[in-house]
Parts: sequence; structure tokens; C-alpha cells
Amino acid sequence: MLAIIGGRGLTQLTNLEITHRQVMRTPYGEPSGAFLFGKFNQSDVIFLARHGFGYTIPPHLVNYRANMWALREQGVTNIISIATVGGIRADLKPGILVVPDQVIDYTHGRDYTFYSDRNVSYKNIDFTQPYSERMRRHILSGAKKAHQQCIDGGVYAATQGPRLDSMAEINRYERDGADMVGMTGMPEISLAMELDMNYAALAVVVNYAAGRGESHTKINIEHVNGTATEAMERVRTILEHICDEGCIDDN
Ligand code: HPA
Repeated sequence: MLAIIGGRGLTQLTNLEITHRQVMRTPYGEPSGAFLFGKFNQSDVIFLARHGFGYTIPPHLVNYRANMWALREQGVTNIISIATVGGIRADLKPGILVVPDQVIDYTHGRDYTFYSDRNVSYKNIDFTQPYSERMRRHILSGAKKAHQQCIDGGVYAATQGPRLDSMAEINRYERDGADMVGMTGMPEISLAMELDMNYAALAVVVNYAAGRGESHTKINIEHVNGTATEAMERVRTILEHICDEGCIDDN
């Protein structure tokens, strides 16, 4: 089963033929909202709005553990996450779509693991390749079929939010090797891996990161929202083409 997690600008998946909604409970509390079950271009999918359907849950308060746990309980093995990011690398301009292949975690104080009890056996997940290469390929081939340009690879810096970054922070992330910056990638990716789910993200650049391009003195939030809304139309067509393949198997 495939899950699509929507972020800013994608709190609904139009064309999802909803069969039912389910409010989920987990040992970690409640997910961001009811799960929407349905058919999206012939594929069975679950849709979850990461920030809630009313876009009210800020990145540091998303219950990532409940979201991932509940998806796994529903038989989800594959996840496509839609994320908005600020572009650090020069070619990552607003409106560009990118499928990251690496992550750096700058978040703190979030519930980042399911192994939080002393007396339970645990495993050290191998995080060399944080994103599932197979899911990355599905996104890239969906984009190709949809005739949408999409950059293959990039380093995602996950920051704490909800504030945006200072210029010096962006300079630091760049020196560390980051290409884009967002607030929700971690711990979502590693929690999915702890539960053996294949996870990849389609990132939408919605602004130049602080101190870059037109954000040299300030980030214009109205532009951010406008870019996100426009780009999500392209994201939807990519998702349709991915689901059209009907071939994301459960391995
Ligand atoms: N910084 C952090 N997170 C973001 C940004 C940004 O510039 N744009 C979208 N998410």
C-alpha cells in the first residue's frame, strides 16, 4: 500500500476517489488527521495531510511517530512525501522540483525514534542512504512521464522551524553540503525506516533560502504561498503518473 503525505499547499489530493476516512489512534498519540483511503488513478492510496487538513500543526509539533506508526498499521510499505523547501544551491530556484537523495538533521527536541524505552531490544538502522532509491526512481519516472522537469538528487537540511533561517545559518548549511532546507524531513524519514517503510520525497522549492536570490534581505511569504500553490498542480500530475503505473509493489 502506498501513502502520500502532503505538506504546505497540498492538504487535499484532488482526484482521490475517497472510499473512507479513518481516525487513527496509536501508542504515541494521534496522527495529524484522519487518514483518507481511496483510489488515485487506479492505485490504492492513503492520503495524510502532515500539518492537518486545516494546516494548523507547525513542523515541530507534528506527531511524526503517530503518523508513521498508524500508516504501518494500515499496511503501508511505501511512502511518497511532498515537502516544500528553500533553495540553497544556485539551480534550486522557486518552482523547481527535486528528489533529494541525502539529508542532514538539524532538528532537536522532537520524538525521533521508536526505541525510547530502556528495556526493549533495538536496532541501529542503516541510514547511509536515507531515501529509498526504488521510490526515488518511481517519482523521477512519474515526472518524466508527466513531462515535468525534476532534479535527481540533492541534500536536504532538516531544520527545527517554525521560524525561517538566518543568512548565517544558510551559509553554514551550505558549507555542510546542503542544497535545500525544509522543516519536516526529520524525523519522518528515519521513523519510516525504523518501521521498514520505503520513503522518498518530492521537494518543491518555494523560495530562495535566506540571503540567496531575491531573498537577499527578506523572504517574501506571499511569493512562497503563490509558488507552492502553482507547483502543487505539477506535483499532482506527477503523482497521477506514478499511480498510473500501478506498479509500486509492496517490497
Ligand atoms: N527554510 C526552511 N524551511 C523552509 C524554507 C526555508 O527557506 N522554505 C520552505 N520550507
